[in-house]
Amino acid sequence: MTDISRILTPEAEDDTEVVVDRSLRPHSLDEYIGQRDLKANLSVLLTAARQRGDAADHVLLHGPPGLGKTTLATIVAHELGANIRYASGPAIERAGDLAAILTSLDERDVLFIDEIHRLNRAVEEILYPAMEDFALDVMIGKGPSARSLRLSLKPFTIVGATTRAGRISSPLRDRFGATYRLDFYEIPDLTAIVERSARLLGVELSKDGAVAIARRGRGTPRVVNRLLRRVRDYAQIHGDGRVDAVMADRALAALEIDHEGLDGTDRKLLAAIIQKFGSGPVGVQALAAVLAEEPETVEDVYEPFLLRLGFLDRSPQGRIATDAARNHLAKLGYEIPAPRRPDGEQPPLWENPGSDTPAR
Ligand code: ADE
Repeated sequence: MTDISRILTPEAEDDTEVVVDRSLRPHSLDEYIGQRDLKANLSVLLTAARQRGDAADHVLLHGPPGLGKTTLATIVAHELGANIRYASGPAIERAGDLAAILTSLDERDVLFIDEIHRLNRAVEEILYPAMEDFALDVMIGKGPSARSLRLSLKPFTIVGATTRAGRISSPLRDRFGATYRLDFYEIPDLTAIVERSARLLGVELSKDGAVAIARRGRGTPRVVNRLLRRVRDYAQIHGDGRVDAVMADRALAALEIDHEGLDGTDRKLLAAIIQKFGSGPVGVQALAAVLAEEPETVEDVYEPFLLRLGFLDRSPQGRIATDAARNHLAKLGYEIPAPRRPDGEQPPLWENPGSDTPAR
């Protein structure tokens, strides 16, 4: 018998920051700031299911890390008045693991599966009839006498989360009744999130202080909440605990977070493309090696925000650092060599004004 407590993640983790972060999370759609269109659509789906007394349709959430996929799953359960169980694709190793979880669910419960794109094939195949017909197909016996037996499950809702919508097989994707994409948050929403978190943490924070933190928050609630806690520490040690824009700027400068919100790793990534690879194109494997990170981490964690800032372009040949990235690092004092360009492409005239030698 599979011990499902090994696979399901407990609510509380033994990490103070994770626990604090969780305490800052909104519990209802009303409390949830940002993602306006997604919220409106999700609210219709949940209200309609609740009115009918049905389990809600399965929901797939995709987008970069830290934007609130787990928070939204918790809100889905809360809005439905149901329980939620947390699992993740890589933790569900065998078909039997998933069968044990599914048979333990009560009617209308929510099962959150993080990194759902990492489910293995055998597990995924159990999920298809479970999602579509609330049925579990089990094989009895082996060889020529093997038979398939269909067990029924109580109706439930899967909330799947992924940073990689493109990696989900189409049969699995097709079984979600609703798919929502989370986008990076705009500054006014991030400001409101910082202000809400400061209230919950009891931090005295001015409006301009909140904006200063939000601006460097990479469009990501998890990041602004982390920055808020670091700025609070700084204000406690170097000031009287109150946070205004000057205090926030000083704290964030001490953390080496620049005014675009880039941290040391972001700058290292851009500097590598510009200085080691002639501004690109360069493959993600080579970049990951320079940063001593997994290529998947580079793609999921670092690149999305740099792409959104317009500091990075993706081409079939690889990653390219844009002029905006080159200008940004130049202002910070980085050495910016002339870009290497594909054969035959001339550098624009403005790139090397008054020089006899082409910038190559
Ligand atoms: N804390 C983290 N994300 C949040 C959000 N979207 N709204 C309110 N508080 C949050």
